Amino acid sequence: MTSQTTQTSRICFFNQKGGTGKTTVAINVAGALSKRDRDVLFVDVDPQGNATEGLGLLKEYDAQPPTIFDVITDREARRSVNGLIVEHKEFDVLPANVDLLNIEYELTIADLMGRMGNAEAQNTLADFAINVAPSDLENRHAKGMLSKALDAINYEYDYILIDAPPFFGEISDNALYASRNVLIPSLTESTSQRAIELLFDQFDGLEQETGITIHDIGAIANRVESTKEAEKMKDWLATAFPDVPVWNIRKRVALQRAYAAGVSICQRPHPTSLTQRGSLVEGGACQ
Ligand SMILES: Nc1ncnc2c1ncn2[C@@H]1O[C@H](COP(=O)(O)OP(=O)(O)OP(=O)(O)O)[C@@H](O)[C@H]1O
Ligand SMILES: [Mg+2]
Repeated sequence: MTSQTTQTSRICFFNQKGGTGKTTVAINVAGALSKRDRDVLFVDVDPQGNATEGLGLLKEYDAQPPTIFDVITDREARRSVNGLIVEHKEFDVLPANVDLLNIEYELTIADLMGRMGNAEAQNTLADFAINVAPSDLENRHAKGMLSKALDAINYEYDYILIDAPPFFGEISDNALYASRNVLIPSLTESTSQRAIELLFDQFDGLEQETGITIHDIGAIANRVESTKEAEKMKDWLATAFPDVPVWNIRKRVALQRAYAAGVSICQRPHPTSLTQRGSLVEGGACQ
């Protein structure tokens, strides 16, 4: 095994609005890429662990340390990331763990440590931390800690796909920082518009704070139904994302069934095409 190079594409699935299909789309993109012979690692950083549980990894979600929490927050534990990766029938998974319920607390302390700079203040903060120590920080912020943990992975994946949780916070910032590429699933209802406007503001703030550039590489109009509201939202998405594809995924029972079975639709008997207005799924997602 060699060190991971920058050839791996990292993509984060994010929308701070809940229930837009981040996990469903991420699992199905992972399944479709794997079907095309790409090596894929699916990373679940959502403390809820929906993807982890959905993919049948409840035991890993409840496992004792070291867990994904430790590899993010403890520099010494980073290399344990390789032992946490689990083989799923379609792709590899770095599962979420119940300890991620503490990740906002821990990364907030880490972020403050980074900002404070002076050793005495940092040591005082370290007394409140679970893992993080001043020596764990490589920047004056803590947005890069997930990225460092992923850098410690020995295997060279073609894609690392990160399923982010439905809120703005330290871990979603870490997911964006680690991937720099984001796919945005959105429901086709009017409240989704405001969510995406806020999301763009969040990207701007993170870019200014850390100096990175976030590429919104596409949007997904998900659970689309034949309503006027859906049509209006699809038009709005096309204007909000003029330079990248906007894919449409209809409301499909097949997707829910696959999710319940812990697989992508590519593993189901009759894979269903995801209707599209871009180019990713030309001829059906699983072909
Ligand atoms: N195209 C679709 N057709 C039918 N059901 C869908 C579709 N996309 C997602 N769902 C269902 O919608 C629900 C929410 O989807 P999912 O969990 O993927 O959203 P999420 O954005 O990851 O949620 P959260 O914000 O809680 O992380 C799930 O029950 C899923 O099966
Ligand atoms: Mg989810």
